[in-house]
Amino acid sequence: RILILDFGAQYTQLIARRVREIGVYCEIHPWDIDDDDVREFLPTGIILSGGPESVTAVDGPRAPQVVFELGVPVLGICYGMQTMAAQLGGRVESADHREFGYAQVRARGHSRLLKDIEDHTTAEGFGLLDVWMSHGDRVTALPPGFICIASTPSAPYAGMADEERGFYAVQFHPEVTHTRQGGRILERFVIGICGCETLWTTGNIIEDGISAIRDEVGDDEVILGLSGGVDSSVVAALLHRAIGDQLICVFVDTGLLRLHEGDQVMATFATHMGVRVVRVDAGERFLAALAGVIDPEAKRKIIGALFVEIFEEEAGKLGSARWLAQGTIYPDVIESAGARTGKAHVIKSHHNVGGLPAHMRLRLLEPLRELFKDEVRRLGVELGLPSEMVYRHPFPGPGLGVRILGEVRPEFAEPLRRADHIFIEELRRHELYDQVSQAFAVFLPVKSVGVMGDGRRYDWVIALRAVETVDFMTARWAHLPYEFLDLVSRRIINEIDGISRVVYDVSGKPPATIEWE
Ligand code: XMP
Repeated sequence: RILILDFGAQYTQLIARRVREIGVYCEIHPWDIDDDDVREFLPTGIILSGGPESVTAVDGPRAPQVVFELGVPVLGICYGMQTMAAQLGGRVESADHREFGYAQVRARGHSRLLKDIEDHTTAEGFGLLDVWMSHGDRVTALPPGFICIASTPSAPYAGMADEERGFYAVQFHPEVTHTRQGGRILERFVIGICGCETLWTTGNIIEDGISAIRDEVGDDEVILGLSGGVDSSVVAALLHRAIGDQLICVFVDTGLLRLHEGDQVMATFATHMGVRVVRVDAGERFLAALAGVIDPEAKRKIIGALFVEIFEEEAGKLGSARWLAQGTIYPDVIESAGARTGKAHVIKSHHNVGGLPAHMRLRLLEPLRELFKDEVRRLGVELGLPSEMVYRHPFPGPGLGVRILGEVRPEFAEPLRRADHIFIEELRRHELYDQVSQAFAVFLPVKSVGVMGDGRRYDWVIALRAVETVDFMTARWAHLPYEFLDLVSRRIINEIDGISRVVYDVSGKPPATIEWE
């Protein structure tokens, strides 16, 4: 197993995902982890991530000294290289110009890390690598025992190694796909140098997960809030495989779901897989609670609180359960650790069931706690969930509640559901669905004039939104073909009563958010 020490780079999770893709288990921990925790982790190798700080700052973050004393290979990336150089007796200085973006690195000699890995060869026989760089500081003197293994015109030491001790470092980012040979370089470190075995496979994760769950819960019953989203669906499938009927799912249908979604959840889990699912049709209660409410945050709070209330009512009826399962995944765990909120379990806000009555004393079961989203998806497919469900776009907890602007009314929800369905159906039909990260329709409670046949119409407006994004923090509006938008618009206006106009949202995030509320 590989220990990744995080110095705060935006790419740290990518390092972990790449290592896992190679088939090796790894964990991310903050750079200021205790020496004892490093030892207890029993790492086969350690990777030091990049980070935004400067090593030249007096109190800049440093790797725990034990990292260099354990006798295991260490790979420093960007900031990780600089701190390795500084801590082992080299020198790091601020460069007069920042290097950011593509660069060509000349690989020197035959270090075990880079040997025979190259994108091009120079006339003199040197290997050239196309890499992604992002740094201000640079190493200007190697620590004793190190040799230079890569260089660029602006960073004479773009890579260094002490092969004796198994210490390697690169100034560029092998974890990003722009570094074309990055995957091979990481694999060389993890497999070739650290000697890790590739045991982290979907099959093994499921098998280990199942035996861990069985050991943990024994004969107890487990409750799970099933939402139809990827994470809770995969938890349901995994727990069902592990403990069968000891699992009871509670599916609260808020009435704010997509067209036929409630029935699909029941068909997949109850009918097809034979999972015990209690469905609560709570649409009326949600509508009543939302009557007259216009403010988006107020709507979110009402929906969240009512969800918890209903979940608790149902859980209370299942008095024999001892465990509450949740679809917490690894990025949630890392975020909470990063936010220094202690080691507390994260409770997802939109199905926050943290307020369960104390007398129930439910213990938390989080079988996906160690997994990244892409791993969760692969698990889902392997466990037999339909791939449309597993690879579905994200859907917000408050559902259509924040896609009907202003007051949520049933007469708005119905046309919105149908418009959204048409949009998604056509995206799939035109093989555009997987090219956008999220797509949906929004109901605008605004009337506009139209004509149909001889008649004048005065009807509502539907907005379509489709975005491309990696992290949902920033997004670009998807440049869908005009012919496609034309088709979707015609279908919505022709097929749905009460809609006379369709608009397409061409705002990026920032400044606009992805959702309209
Ligand atoms: P925004 O609108 O903030 O959305 O750009 C970013 C991502 O978060 C989703 N989103 C939510 N998810 N509860 C959720 O579970 C919410 O209240 C919520 N609001 C936004 C949104 O769909 C997008 O994927």
